[in-house]
Amino acid sequence: MKPTRPAARNLAITSRRHLWYPFTQMAGWNKEPPLIIVRGRGPYLWGHDGRRYLDGTSSLWVNLHGHRHPALDRAIEAQLSRVAHSTLLGLSHAPAIKLAGELVQRAPRGLSRVFYSDNGSTAVEVALKMAFQFWQLSGGAGRRKRLFVSFANAYHGDTLGAVSVGGIDLFHQRFAPLLFPTLKVHAPYCYRCPLGLRYPECGIACLDQLERTLTQRKDEIAGVIVEPLIQAAAGMLAAPPGHLRRVRELTSRHDVIMIADEVATGFGRTGRFFACEHEAVSPDLMAVAKGLTGGYLPLAATLTTERLYRSFLGPYKSFRTFFHGHSYTGNPLGCAAALANLKIFDTEHTLARARSTISDLREALESITALPHVGQVRQRGLMVGIELVKNRGNREPYALARRTGYQVCREARRRGLLLRPLRDVIVLMPPLTATRPVLRRMADIVGRSIQAVTG
Ligand SMILES: Cc1ncc(COP(=O)(O)O)c(C=O)c1O
Repeated sequence: MKPTRPAARNLAITSRRHLWYPFTQMAGWNKEPPLIIVRGRGPYLWGHDGRRYLDGTSSLWVNLHGHRHPALDRAIEAQLSRVAHSTLLGLSHAPAIKLAGELVQRAPRGLSRVFYSDNGSTAVEVALKMAFQFWQLSGGAGRRKRLFVSFANAYHGDTLGAVSVGGIDLFHQRFAPLLFPTLKVHAPYCYRCPLGLRYPECGIACLDQLERTLTQRKDEIAGVIVEPLIQAAAGMLAAPPGHLRRVRELTSRHDVIMIADEVATGFGRTGRFFACEHEAVSPDLMAVAKGLTGGYLPLAATLTTERLYRSFLGPYKSFRTFFHGHSYTGNPLGCAAALANLKIFDTEHTLARARSTISDLREALESITALPHVGQVRQRGLMVGIELVKNRGNREPYALARRTGYQVCREARRRGLLLRPLRDVIVLMPPLTATRPVLRRMADIVGRSIQAVTG
């Protein structure tokens, strides 16, 4: 429902007075009233201004089947008629139990245990703490394994553990004094290769540093955390084929836990149910969130193996318990939505259909590749990053303060498409069910907006 003009004005006033928005410089933001979203359907959102917008980021990478999917709506309503929330601390409920079983069925082989939390960051925290405690419980020399290795440019969330394994200076550097020490290795950023090499001749040499680190310090290393196939928040940096498999080989060889952060890539985003499947990789721990509920409710899970799980077992007095949990851990509404989400994948053959959506998107993006200030268009399934550069020849970036990416997104909004950039990388993340006309429209607006700003 569209709010009346005075209602929208009142909301804008209260917003300006009281609401602090995430990842937002409030000084600039408050100069103009926010676009207040009032409803959604399919790939569209409607604003208080009465306009219909295409949701080009799937509401920050979460929405899979479009807004107001009837089966998801029904599942939440049905659960709501029973109970909205009860705890998993000392009690249980059917949606959490069933969902654990369903997730394990779809997860990479060997992941058999599910621990719930609320968002991607907490799913990562849980993975880090589990890996750490696993080695502490192993006794002997294993207790020295306390360090985590993570990749430059990585983004695993905003809680302090997740920030410790993060690698985006703009977001993370400020908090350095609060973070635990980690070992950083090169990111697979082929467009700006840290070694100045080219794929495939390079033989993925950026991973040699990980190999050296593991060889030299494996006795101190608890785990390696990686975003499979694509470093999303870094600007949709697609890793070359074979990268993930080699991370798995190296971690297995050196007896170090591999944590796959599938928060952004899980649930069909890359064209497979989980990105790890592309390289037949089974991690020791896997974090999922975002698409878990089809983009409806905040729910996350950390999956692990019997080996890890069993190491926590023992009499109470051995204090091997995993002392971690949140008020809303395994919230029944979220679990009901997640179950409905998984069912939609089966009944609507979402993955099979997403394959043609992915190639339609590739086709729709072709004309953008040729634009003079587009350095690279990176696509992994339905995740797209369009890197804008000042000079295409030498890949010189725009000055950050110019906010080119932001300007393009503003322009796109004027034309009816909602986007959010990662600095000067324009992110396009359509729902898995986007039709060809919708994809074409999105790509057309992106292209025109880039031209308007960089032309
Ligand atoms: C790979 C990855 N991990 C973790 C997170 C954090 O998830 P959340 O924002 O739900 O805490 C994100 C968010 O973008 C992500 O892309």
